[in-house]
Amino acid sequence: MMSRMTGMGWIALFAFVALGAPWHLAAAGEAPRQAAVATAHPAATAAGREVLQAGGNAFDAAVAVTAALAVAEPYSSGLGGGGFYLLHQADSGRDVMLDARERAPGQASRDMYLDDEGEPQPQLSVDGALAAGIPGIPAALDHLADRYGRLALGETLQPAITLAREGFEVTPMYRRLVGFRQEVLADDPGSREIFLHAGALPDLGQLIRQPDLAATLERLALEGRDGFYQGELAGRLVDGVRKAGGIWCRSDLAGYRVVERDPVVSRFRGFEVVSAAPPSSGGVALAEILNTYATLARRAGGLDDLSVLGLHYRIEAMRRAYRDRAEYLGDPDYVDVPVERLTSPDYAAGLAVGISPSDATPSASLAPVITAPEGPHTTHFSIMDADGNYVAATLSINYPFGAGVTVPGTGVLLNDEMDDFSQKPGVPNVYGLIGAEANAIAPGKRPLSSMSPTFVRNDELVGVLGTPGGSRIITMVLGGVLTATRGESVADWVAEPRIHHQYLPDRVEVEPGTLSEDQRVELELMGHRIETNDGFGNMQALAWWRDGNRLEAAADPRGEGEAVVFDLRQAP
Ligand code: DON
Repeated sequence: MMSRMTGMGWIALFAFVALGAPWHLAAAGEAPRQAAVATAHPAATAAGREVLQAGGNAFDAAVAVTAALAVAEPYSSGLGGGGFYLLHQADSGRDVMLDARERAPGQASRDMYLDDEGEPQPQLSVDGALAAGIPGIPAALDHLADRYGRLALGETLQPAITLAREGFEVTPMYRRLVGFRQEVLADDPGSREIFLHAGALPDLGQLIRQPDLAATLERLALEGRDGFYQGELAGRLVDGVRKAGGIWCRSDLAGYRVVERDPVVSRFRGFEVVSAAPPSSGGVALAEILNTYATLARRAGGLDDLSVLGLHYRIEAMRRAYRDRAEYLGDPDYVDVPVERLTSPDYAAGLAVGISPSDATPSASLAPVITAPEGPHTTHFSIMDADGNYVAATLSINYPFGAGVTVPGTGVLLNDEMDDFSQKPGVPNVYGLIGAEANAIAPGKRPLSSMSPTFVRNDELVGVLGTPGGSRIITMVLGGVLTATRGESVADWVAEPRIHHQYLPDRVEVEPGTLSEDQRVELELMGHRIETNDGFGNMQALAWWRDGNRLEAAADPRGEGEAVVFDLRQAP
């Protein structure tokens, strides 16, 4: 054995002995012995728990939860959408990101949302079938089951199938979001029939049944990915999309693949922070912000995260990372994304040099770039099984109820994720994000995302977290990481008041109660423009405190989610 060890092998062995084993190997054999599920809907949490108790692992539970959310949170995610799954396998210690992001159809083109004068037509990438990318979620379910799960799709999809057939109850959140999209839903016969009641808002407690979606899930259970991307159902999807003004082709569906990518890993306060790789901007921006902030904290000889200086430095680090996001980030299969450079501590040290301790940097004074639209709904869930496998997944159809179009006879609600491309360099989307060449539309390309499923861990803690929230996802996850690395409880990670800056527009967004009056005044005197917005995000997180082997989970009090920690033998 020894004689076959390569030169590299010796170096690796030396590093291992000299620097200490990576934490996951040091921890081999340890397991939380309980399981935890945190999702944005109680029915999805119940589905995850049921599958874990039936002997499934965290990846099987991720299938069950994804499908149940597709039914019960139709405004957030679904079979017609996409997302990113961050997985950790306990036995190998391996982390991997499943990229199930939507792709632009083959007939998409760079200027498809511009009129003859070259002016953007914002509605076209938001409402209706032309806004829909090729979905990734059905392929992700098959991939999870096939490569990572223990159970067959027939078993893991069952709770969602039952839920779709029997119906879920209308909640206040459902009514609020239907109200937001009522016009577009009423215009589409498929959506109108399912999501509205005689064209009006359904009452609280009314049941929303989706028999066509139940049949589509059954077909997926029986035939796997081909049941969705090929054959009769694919024909129906393409037909429905084209009749509604879209440009999908059968080859777009047949050609869709989930891509496994290495996550972006950074280090902060002795923790390893593992997050989403491009085509999400999450991991890169998070690393850039954490590195810059750590440099500034060293320069200050220590920093309280919630002091005026801590908040000022956080804002300045966010500003610069979102500037770089706008310039450099896009689908790595189409453009070269300088991940190493942007996530290196040296690069952050350079950025920190330009940050004053007393004055805000106007965004306009940074080298200009030209950003992409984000919508106000999406979902995140976090799962850990008793063996120590875990999943963070953020999934989306973009806007509430996506494009608003449900393809007849399929129950599939189309996404409007094409809106995440930058339609024209420099033109801000409705959320004020701008984008450049790296995120221009091209056939088959994946639009840039902010979705950031994340792990934060060291020898004492494994944290699993994420949230919806469009452009603010990254800064909310940042808030979660800062709270986690201060050793606070998981209930605080999700509840922590939020603060956000995205380079342009040049303003700091805070929730009511984030800043004291004195802090607000001091930040304004430094030159920050501060706007208070309603609560944002819907974080779902869990923490395995390895010291004492304690599992905790929490659902964001801003949403309607549910988090549970349980023994496998315990009846639900
Ligand atoms: O991928 C993205 O970044 C967006 N489509 C996510 C949209 C979103 O989070 C809306 N949420 N509330």
